[in-house]
Amino acid sequence: MPCYRSDSFDSMVKRIRIVRGGTTDETVYNNHTAMGIGEAMNIDKGHKVIRIGLIGYKFMGKVHSNAYRTAPYFFEMGAIPVLQAISGRDSEGLSAAAAGMGWQDCETDWRRMIERDDIDAIDICTPNASHYEIALAAAQAGKHILCEKPLAVSLEQAHNMLHSAKAANVIHMICFNYRYAPAIQFAKRLISQGALGQIHHFRAVYLQDWLSQANARPSWRVDKTVSGSGALGDLMAHSIDLARFLVGEIREVTAQMDSFRPQADVDDTASCLARFDNGATGVFEVSRFAKGNRNSNRIEINGSKGSIRWDLENMNNLHLYLDGDEAGCQGFRVINCTEEAHPYANAYWPAGHILGYEHTFVNLISEFVRGIANGIQPSPSFEDGLRNQILLQAIEASARTGQRLEVE
Ligand SMILES: NC(=O)c1ccc[n+]([C@@H]2O[C@H](COP(=O)([O-])OP(=O)(O)OC[C@H]3O[C@@H](n4cnc5c(N)ncnc54)[C@H](O)[C@@H]3O)[C@@H](O)[C@H]2O)c1
Repeated sequence: MPCYRSDSFDSMVKRIRIVRGGTTDETVYNNHTAMGIGEAMNIDKGHKVIRIGLIGYKFMGKVHSNAYRTAPYFFEMGAIPVLQAISGRDSEGLSAAAAGMGWQDCETDWRRMIERDDIDAIDICTPNASHYEIALAAAQAGKHILCEKPLAVSLEQAHNMLHSAKAANVIHMICFNYRYAPAIQFAKRLISQGALGQIHHFRAVYLQDWLSQANARPSWRVDKTVSGSGALGDLMAHSIDLARFLVGEIREVTAQMDSFRPQADVDDTASCLARFDNGATGVFEVSRFAKGNRNSNRIEINGSKGSIRWDLENMNNLHLYLDGDEAGCQGFRVINCTEEAHPYANAYWPAGHILGYEHTFVNLISEFVRGIANGIQPSPSFEDGLRNQILLQAIEASARTGQRLEVE
């Protein structure tokens, strides 16, 4: 386990190794400027560093910034992320955000940031329609890429993004962060070990209510040219990722999409019936109009031997039912997934000292950094992003045509 060394802040100029495209070279690094915790911890140990360039400085920009700063505090990743430069369009807001979140430098043009030699990895935290152009430019410049979800706004874009990243031989990841909740990772382990038996049902709801509020603020999320879709790409993309991660590939969809606002050009709600490769059935419902549900991302899986339930708003708890339990004692037990046995949770605090939303990103970003440091492609990758996009497109087509569609 790495430990925090505040005395490292004292050193002015240190020699550190820079990881670029799987090779390393030497550079002189001045740590007199604002730095992340990671650098402070390891700069005098000759650790490899990965210099991050992040684009977009609001919600996800802040969440990812926190994750880069926090990950080295808890995880040994083989390299330390450096908060090298952040990009956004409004220079005043950008400078304030850069200073507040610990970035060394900022660029008002993301293209210039991608061209810089002192950036190893690009993190895309901008609205959906901009992912494509940025990811392609990043791949062409040989930068590793972490991209927010959904990967793109069309299948063709998603396909090209995967192709470009593979051709450039860079590490590529999509930020389906809920996979990285310890309870979800533990559920994956239980399912893989056969604890639930053959899976029959996957059920997911992802419900929000912000758009139903009378004072809902204008957002790019309801502008189709920027978002690509509404609740579908925003929320169901996450549920689909959990379904694929925990149960397997989806081969058939029947869907419905609706809007409650006049002249809306994106869906406010979407629902889908699905069939998985392995014979399981799936039911998905997402909405931005489900009053009282702030961020209610819930799943239930039923197998031949047992079931699990999970709810993001109580994300440390996994509800587990096992048929093999003694008669009279059967029922859902609540496992607080903060024990040594629970993936990722064991890097943090003693059992029962719970984790939060931000830790799903810290865990995922630790895998991004580890993947770059070791040259090993982590998941979810752009392949997962493309597969997700194929399903989003099939769902949209099914809703439009009223047909049940098979998915290759
Ligand atoms: N993983 C998750 O759970 C999760 C949660 C929320 C959002 N997201 C995704 O993250 C992405 C960003 O969403 P957000 O909520 O952070 O949005 P946001 O509106 O809070 O922030 C978007 C940022 O991008 C910047 N931006 C927009 N266009 C730009 C451009 N052309 N060049 C440079 N900067 C530009 C904006 O100035 C802003 O800083 C979206 O793809 C969204 O779907 C993922």
